[in-house]
Amino acid sequence: MYIVDMLGITKTFGELVANDNVDFQLRKGEIHALLGENGAGKTTLMRILYGLYRPDTGIIKVAEQPVEIHSPKDAIANGIGMVTQHFALVPPLSVAENIVLGNTDGFVVNRAAMEAKVAAAADRFGIVIDPKSLVRHLAVGQRQRVEILKALYRNARVLILDEPTAVLVPQEVDALFETLNRLKADGLSVIFISHKLHEVTQITDRVTVLRDGKLIGTVDTKDMSQSQLAAMMVGRETFGVTRKDEQHEQQPVTLRIDNLCAKNDQGMPALTNVCLEVKAGEILGIAGVGGNGQKELAESLCGVRDCASGSIQLAGKELIGKTPAGFTQAGVGRIPEDRHEGMVGDLTVTENLALEHLNEYTRSGVLDHKAIRTRAEELIHQFQIKARPNDPVRTLSGGNMQKVLLARVLSRNPKAVIVPQPTRGLDVGATDYVRQQLLEQRDRGAAILLISEDLDEILALSDRIAVIYEGEIVGILPAGEATPERLGLLMSGAVKEH
Ligand SMILES: Nc1ncnc2c1ncn2[C@@H]1O[C@H](COP(=O)(O)OP(=O)(O)O)[C@@H](O)[C@H]1O
Ligand SMILES: [Mg+2]
Repeated sequence: MYIVDMLGITKTFGELVANDNVDFQLRKGEIHALLGENGAGKTTLMRILYGLYRPDTGIIKVAEQPVEIHSPKDAIANGIGMVTQHFALVPPLSVAENIVLGNTDGFVVNRAAMEAKVAAAADRFGIVIDPKSLVRHLAVGQRQRVEILKALYRNARVLILDEPTAVLVPQEVDALFETLNRLKADGLSVIFISHKLHEVTQITDRVTVLRDGKLIGTVDTKDMSQSQLAAMMVGRETFGVTRKDEQHEQQPVTLRIDNLCAKNDQGMPALTNVCLEVKAGEILGIAGVGGNGQKELAESLCGVRDCASGSIQLAGKELIGKTPAGFTQAGVGRIPEDRHEGMVGDLTVTENLALEHLNEYTRSGVLDHKAIRTRAEELIHQFQIKARPNDPVRTLSGGNMQKVLLARVLSRNPKAVIVPQPTRGLDVGATDYVRQQLLEQRDRGAAILLISEDLDEILALSDRIAVIYEGEIVGILPAGEATPERLGLLMSGAVKEH
């Protein structure tokens, strides 16, 4: 017997078919992964189940009865709750107030009674949280717990979690998984959206795989290896990049950052006395939970953000005080975090590839269009960009846009490369491509500073790993000594290692 039955679900957005005749069946008391690359249609399918979208065709049954779900209210009435990637909590209110909010049956709530009810619910589901705490004082992992408890408090029997681990450090992931197992033991059903194979194999009973909006299949997790699941997800067997382990002790320091301090957009300190060295032929990974100064660090190192104090030296030359163009000319390659920021969407691939370097194509004041075009064709070929020279950049997929950026920056053989979140939002194929390019740059002898919130990415690529927490470097480890647990402790601010 299925607690949820979604049959023949199709959902289009204009021309785009986000879900194409998808069937999804959820058993009572199972943890069921919805696995697929970015853009596969996972969120869309679950937003349909939660009443945020209406399907074009298809039917939904709950406990074998056909139901109409027009809104989250209908979903909740049918025992379906969803925890989204962006929490919908009210920070100045307490945990108890957030949970009971909108669910008070019209009675005026007595604070003590409300807190007692929430405490009882937390206890019953084994969720550790203080009902009296203000949400704004809670860490991300705790806020997620509040969202889960909020759904359970509304009697959810089906819990949808959309990429819940994306915002968590490893220890919080462990706590989340304990909670999910406990809910499962209570007979609840959990839909766990992820594209991380090791999580899917660790926690789920069954897996439904989507690719390009289509159902590829539903399988028992225990029958599948990670590479078999990867094959279902991307349509090929092998994936991932491998890093050659080498010693970098003898290499000179290319990028030296000393006591760097910078402020965020609100004028508050964002970086405090950051000291880092990146050697030639080394990838230094910066791990950390988002919002701990990563953006400010990347911007400071490219001259885009003014530094309050400190020093940034490239091959012994001071860069502080230079313009962004000055940083580039000195040999810093910058792949901006926001791909759209680095390009002009209405200009063509050819024009975007020449951007920032137009002076080199100018002959006695006139642009040499032929040379620009020839160079663009070479780069399109070399970087395997799936686009024509005259296509406007805005028509490209995220992966191909990232390749245009890489081509523009890396073809100039920069001494140092600053790469914040280089694969965010890319599919597995494009992700592999970008990572391979970074490894090739490293082998060429570039000093690479890789800033990523994806710990798997940091672990796969880095020679050494520094952890940033509240704008400070709280530890630096050689890759061989960096376990997810050790990094997680640093990332959560619980310990410092110097
Ligand atoms: N509201 C929307 N409007 C237009 N296109 C959308 C909308 N929501 C999702 N899409 C598109 O539908 C496809 C599937 O997206 P999504 O369900 O978010 O995938 P996933 O969650 O698997 O990454 C993507 O191509 C996405 O761009
Ligand atoms: Mg999604």
